[in-house]
Amino acid sequence: MINLKSKIYVAGHNGLVGSAILRKLKANGYKNLIYISKKKLDLTKQLNVYNFLKKNKPKFIFIAAAKVGGILSNRDNKAEFISQNLLIQTNLIYGAYLAGVKDLIFLGSSCVYPKKSKQPIKENYLLEGKLEETNDAYAIAKIAGIKMCQSFNEQYGLNYKCLMPTNTFGPNDNYDENNSHFFPALIKKIYDIKNNKSNKLILWGNGKAKREVLHVDDLADACVFFMKKKTKYKLINIGTGKDYSIIYYAKLMSKIILKKKISIKFDRTKPNGVFRKVLNISLAKKYGWKPKINLTDAILKSYNSYEKNKKK
Ligand SMILES: NC(=O)c1ccc[n+]([C@@H]2O[C@H](COP(=O)([O-])OP(=O)(O)OC[C@H]3O[C@@H](n4cnc5c(N)ncnc54)[C@H](OP(=O)(O)O)[C@@H]3O)[C@@H](O)[C@H]2O)c1
Repeated sequence: MINLKSKIYVAGHNGLVGSAILRKLKANGYKNLIYISKKKLDLTKQLNVYNFLKKNKPKFIFIAAAKVGGILSNRDNKAEFISQNLLIQTNLIYGAYLAGVKDLIFLGSSCVYPKKSKQPIKENYLLEGKLEETNDAYAIAKIAGIKMCQSFNEQYGLNYKCLMPTNTFGPNDNYDENNSHFFPALIKKIYDIKNNKSNKLILWGNGKAKREVLHVDDLADACVFFMKKKTKYKLINIGTGKDYSIIYYAKLMSKIILKKKISIKFDRTKPNGVFRKVLNISLAKKYGWKPKINLTDAILKSYNSYEKNKKK
């Protein structure tokens, strides 16, 4: 059982999710935390990862290291998305097994579920149909990670859990124009309008696609919660269970931050992605976890942190 003195390794601690897990662990009083930069340990290098785990002997591992990107980046760099993710997660999961780690959390993504899944999406819809084409390479890598964890659990009685988060946002997000997810991209666009760098809001696609979003502090809360929790099922959706159209988010952000209505234009040369993707979070709720940060607070928190970083 994890306790405040347990040795815990957070892989990907500089990223959006990894940094939130580290913040959460520190805030909760966990003292024996290990993390290492990509410069010092490239997780695609098998032998280096095995040696690092053998030498440091963590008892618990959060895998938040991955090659992550938005819709265009996923569509145009499939070779890197599939190979780097397979390498990183395989090295960490197999390396964890070799190093005697019994408890691990692997982060996947809601894109592992079939494109035409019934909504809200339940965990057992995995592998029931074809994937969305724009990110199928990334999703296949994540599905392999889930199967790897399940296989080690079945064969060796380990406790490797796979959390499937919905679109996540917050501090340390990626705001790159072509490589980010829709939500941080929207925050950046609203910031640019507020600071007179732009006078119109251009949304990719037709803006009608519906998406669920989760503040990263809620995801970190779920990661720590499920590392502690004994569960029969090891594949668990993490989200809010609520989705809205991208236009809705755009209008809400302009109301909260710009405090006015703005004209919205659409760049229809850009893809829409799947029409609707919302997770069924009944299993997580059954185990006693639910999100705590409401959407307005989450938007304000993220916008303020983006603005603060821009002013630095
Ligand atoms: N963001 C979302 O909306 C979202 C939604 C669902 C699930 N997730 C999942 O959550 C996990 C983390 O995502 P994120 O959004 O936090 O991504 P992120 O911000 O891009 O962070 C990824 C981290 O992985 C590290 N990394 C990448 N390649 C590495 C390598 N070869 N060696 C060592 N470290 C490496 C990066 O290091 P550097 O900082 O040095 O590059 C970074 O710290 C992923 O598994 C993702 O699928 C994210």
